[in-house]
Amino acid sequence: MTGTAAGAGRPRVFVARRIPDDGLLPVVEACDARVWEGELPPPRGELLRSVEGCAGVLTLLTDRVDDEFLDRAGTGLRVVSNFAVGFDNIDVPACTRRGIPVGNTPGVLTDTTADLAWALLMAAGRRVAEGDRFVRAGRWRTWGPMLLMGPDVHGGTLGIVGFGRIGQAVARRAMGFGMTILYYDTRRADAAVETGFGATFVSLEELLARSDFVSLHVNLTDETRHLVNAERLGWMKPTAVLVNTSRGPVVDQGALFEALRDGVIGAAALDVTDPEPMAADDPLLSLDNCLVVPHIASASRATRGKMAAMAAANLLAGVRGERLPTPVNPEVYEGR
Ligand code: GLV
Repeated sequence: MTGTAAGAGRPRVFVARRIPDDGLLPVVEACDARVWEGELPPPRGELLRSVEGCAGVLTLLTDRVDDEFLDRAGTGLRVVSNFAVGFDNIDVPACTRRGIPVGNTPGVLTDTTADLAWALLMAAGRRVAEGDRFVRAGRWRTWGPMLLMGPDVHGGTLGIVGFGRIGQAVARRAMGFGMTILYYDTRRADAAVETGFGATFVSLEELLARSDFVSLHVNLTDETRHLVNAERLGWMKPTAVLVNTSRGPVVDQGALFEALRDGVIGAAALDVTDPEPMAADDPLLSLDNCLVVPHIASASRATRGKMAAMAAANLLAGVRGERLPTPVNPEVYEGR
């Protein structure tokens, strides 16, 4: 762990992992900052010790922020700034009850995440990783008329579950591929948005039944946990490709394994798993029609720099008692 010299009036903060300099430098400049230098997240005990007496903490999606964490931080805690757009690692109501604003990093990672969803969709559909393994295994003997066939992406039907910023950015990419775009969300988008993307609002059941590709873009909540379960996988086409760049628990992974193994659906590509990291001996990894990458959807150099800058801006605003640029619980400011 590295730290900066404590100085009069410099707020004490804990940064739970080394983040790009775009965010780290302004924080160490302005604060008495301790930075967890490990490649792995701080173990729970270490995390709790580290946040004691802090005015601000910069957390990652691997750090659980709950009542125990907030108790240990103490009454001087003025902000929790999460280096992610998702914040299911944080008990936001617990923070709100204590008047602590929580920040996240929306917007800057939308297109980068949509790019990766698209890469996964194409890679799983057109069997890119499987083909690479095939070549490396010395199994490529000739051009095969029926070798590694998959569905066409262009002209296919794409079902987008969760039509927020990222879901819409995926739809934008699908327009270039001449796809039919279906979407499902808890509330219908404005007519102008639907028209702009040529997207049709359908029930989840219809979306799953009609789509050649299904891409998940919902937050993880009690309602979306295991949204994709055995029954719903059963509604999908046997050739369908499922892409998950949202959160692992949105998919029941045991059910997904059986569906992929038994040909209930064609293929899946996961950026997120339950749990993370996925164990190297997870049954899903024994299947050729399952592609898994290690939660890298926002991992472009430019975007991670922007996320770092945004997380720093939230942290610094919080410790100064100013409104966070992007609070997830703006209700903490009501009546202030
Ligand atoms: C990554 O998963 C994020 O929520 O930013």
